[in-house]
This record gives sequence, structure tokens and C-alpha cells, in this order.
Amino acid sequence: MLDFGSQFSQLIARRVREANVYCELVPGTTPWSELEKRHPAGLILSGGPSSVYDPGAPQVDPAALRAGVPLLGICYGMQLIAHHLGGKVDPGHAREYGPALLSVDETNGLPDTLFRGLRGDLPVWMSHGDHVSEMPPGFHRLATSGNSPVAAFTDGKGIFGIQFHPEVVHTPSGREVLRNFLFTVCHCTPSWTPGSFVAEATESIRAQVGGGRVICALSGGVDSAVAATLVHRALGDQLTCVFVNNGLLRKEEPERVLDVMHGNLDMDIRYVDATERFLGALRGVIDPEQKRRIVGREFISVFEAEATSLGHIDFLAQGTLYPDVIESTAPDVASTASKIKTHHNVGGLPPGLRFQLIEPLRYLFKDEVRAVGLELGMPEEMVYRQPFPGPGLAIRCLGEVTAERLEILRNADWVVVDEIKRNGLYRQVWQSFAVLTPLETVGVMGDFRTYANVVAVRVVTSEDAMTADWARVPYEVLARISNRIVNEVKGVNRVVFDITSKPPGTIEWE
Ligand code: XMP
Repeated sequence: MLDFGSQFSQLIARRVREANVYCELVPGTTPWSELEKRHPAGLILSGGPSSVYDPGAPQVDPAALRAGVPLLGICYGMQLIAHHLGGKVDPGHAREYGPALLSVDETNGLPDTLFRGLRGDLPVWMSHGDHVSEMPPGFHRLATSGNSPVAAFTDGKGIFGIQFHPEVVHTPSGREVLRNFLFTVCHCTPSWTPGSFVAEATESIRAQVGGGRVICALSGGVDSAVAATLVHRALGDQLTCVFVNNGLLRKEEPERVLDVMHGNLDMDIRYVDATERFLGALRGVIDPEQKRRIVGREFISVFEAEATSLGHIDFLAQGTLYPDVIESTAPDVASTASKIKTHHNVGGLPPGLRFQLIEPLRYLFKDEVRAVGLELGMPEEMVYRQPFPGPGLAIRCLGEVTAERLEILRNADWVVVDEIKRNGLYRQVWQSFAVLTPLETVGVMGDFRTYANVVAVRVVTSEDAMTADWARVPYEVLARISNRIVNEVKGVNRVVFDITSKPPGTIEWE
């Protein structure tokens, strides 16, 4: 897929992969000579914010349009095809944004490829200012819509353009349109499955590592657990995992991680309890950025010491995912995206550590990582865990991080997650957790005045953590969470619920 900067680019790639066809995202301007080396069965040109006639608008290499490979241009991608092959694009005065009705032309017999099985008026999602006003010579119209005289076209020989967005849920037949392109036009085989991924990945890990030794840091999260399990499947005891307990994990977390990774999978795991060291370094620190730096720094030195004690190690396995890879190679990364990235890198390892890297998940989206985890036989409880920040509870314990305050936070957090799980909400929401605020308030318990901590409850829904909304948790569940925290967690007399979306808020409080 050639990415011209649409906010939906990753979504298109995910939709293609959901159809079990492998799809990679590359910058839209990648020359055909580069693309050719990957032997694509087809090319999808994404939408994008530009106008084809703008100076500096990203252009497709015309050689890619003439290579004889099937093409599907979406929105801006369609306009690029029109522009380069001799058609015209109107800088639209009639913008079309939101739902529209697509009328598929049934007269010229051609719809039987892209619109196979789809007839009449189809609800679609539009988001464009410009539109194709004149098709290139030899092209036929396949559909129209209210504001797009040509809402879909083809040359009848494998090149298609559509003005609407097939990847979003508001285009109910979008999945069919994409499937028609993949299977009827490109003749792809639906062979991208978790099983085939595991088979190929284990082969390539073996080829890369040979007889070398590999180290992997377990964080307790899904990504590092799946990466380690995959490497373990490929190499067995050539892999050693290091699991550092930084004292900032949730209640019973170290036991759970060890149980899954060690108990079920019989991995060689070095467990390091560095609680004292981390809490010592965090003593008196209130500034969240400083907390992050300290946790990151301490982690690196503990990990390095452990690695050194293992003798000669050649490779480091990491659970880097595809969205991170795309973000770091995208030409113009949005400022928020880059901020979140630095954010995430804190607590990671510095580049140039003396190991070679193995990143077996670097082409996977999160939902694919989960599917691979299940394929590898990992328990659902591990595979469907909610994300947890690298610096752990340090950034959810506002103010000073002490053993006593962490204990309060852990117990409150336990209640939140327990109630969310009991009420079947755990997998519906992105994250659910407690925050210990630096506030104390007055309360009354029994006949006594209390002066104790305020706990905030944060439950959010999100697709990718770039944006999020507060989850509309039923009042009864909130009531139970509040009641249980105040009763069960010593040192808390007030519970508040965070009703801020992101933006303007972030998910974590810090
Ligand atoms: P914010 O608070 O920026 O968080 O809205 C977005 C998502 O990222 C998670 N997060 C982290 N994950 N290392 C991680 O692996 C980190 O340092 C880190 N900081 C935040 C956060 O929990 C949320 O899901």
C-alpha cells in the first residue's frame, strides 16, 4: 500500500490483512524500482490530505501505474491515477464529507469485478474536497454519488479508482469491495494467517540466529511475552529472558508473569527483584518526567548487569510492533505521534547496545500479535491484557512514590480491574485503572472524621491510544468500585471518576 498520508492508511492495511492477505505500508512516493523488488500482487494508493495540483503534493511514480500490476486508488489515490493517466481533477467546490449514497452503474457490464455481488445504492463514507471530473482515456465509470460524477472508475484492465473509503465501518460493503479487489482482481491467496506467520517467523529466527544466544526482557505486557514465546518456539534454550521487578508492578503481577512464562512454557527466566533499588532512586521525586527518566535509567543498568552475568550473548529480542515501525519511518510524523513515541521509548534500551536485534513482531498490528499469541498456545488472560506503561505505577502514583503509597494504589487498582472484569467490560475498554492523587480530603467513617487519600478511576475506550474517550461505565459498576475501594483499601476515603477524553487529556495522569 502506497501511503499518501490518510488518517485511515493503517486501517486499510489492517482490513487487507483481515482478509488474510499480507499488506505492507510504504511511503506513497516510493519509486517503482523499489516496489518491484517486493513482487506485489497489487498496489493500493491511499487517500491523503493533499490536492493533486498542489506544488509539493506527494506523487506516485508513473512507472508504478504502467507496470501492469492491479491498482486500487482510494480518494486521493484515485485522483492521482486520473491526473497521471490523462484525466482531470476538479478542486471541488462541492465538498463531500460523511455519509453518501453510491449508485453502481449496471449498464456497462464492468462492475462484475470490484462491485461483484453489490448492486443498486450503497451507503458509503466520503471525505474529500476534490473529485475526478474527467476520466483518463479508455476508462469507464463504475459508480456515481451526489457530489461525485465519477465515484468509481476502471480501465477494464486492472486499474480501479474509488472516491469513497471502503476501510471505515460507515461503508458497510467496503469489506466486500476490498475482497473483490484482492481476490477477483489481484488473484491473491488468503494465506496470511497466524499459523503461517508462526511457521515463517520461526524459520527466519532460526536462520538469523543460527547457534547464537538470545536475551529478551519481559515486561509483563503482551508484546514482549509473544516475542519471547515465538523466539522460544524457534530456539528453545538458546533464549534467556530477564524479568525485572521494578517494584512498580500491579498486585500479584510478578507471580502471574512468572507463572505463565515459566510454568507453562518452561522458559529460562532470570527474575531480578530490584524493588529496593528503584524505590531508592525515586525517593523524594515528584516530577513525572524525572520519574520516567529514573525508571528508564535504572532498568538499563539492571538489565545490563544481568546480561553481562550471562556471558556471551549475541542477540536481543524485542517486541517492536508495526505501528512503531511505520511511525519511525513516516516522512512527516504528526507531532503527537512523535511525542507518544518518545514516551514509549523511555524504559526501553538505548540503541547501539552491543547486541544484534531480533524483532519478530515488527510487521504485525496489535490484533495480529494477540492472534499469534493464541496460536502459540498462550493463555487468553495474558494475550488480552490491557496495555500498561513501562514506568509502571510510578506515573500513576502522583506525588512521591513510596512503598506505602504504592500499596494503597495497588489495592485500589485491583478493585477497579476486578469489577471491570466481573462485569464483562475488560475486553471492551482499552484500559481501566486507578490513580493515587496527591490529595487528601475529609470524610466520615463510622462516627469518626477521616483525612485520607483521593483515588481517581480512569476507564477509557480507544482504537490505538492516539485518541481516547472515557468509557460510559454503568453507574452501578462505578458505585460498586467506589464502595469497595473505600471499604477495602485502607487510607482512601474518596473516589472520583475521570471524564476527560484524549485530547485534551492523556490517558495516564502522570
Ligand atoms: P497517554 O498517557 O500518552 O498514553 O495518553 C497512551 C498509551 O500509552 C501507554 N503508555 C506507555 N506505554 N511505555 C509504554 O509501553 C510508556 O512509557 C508509556 N506511557 C504511556 C498508556 O498506558 C496508554 O495506553
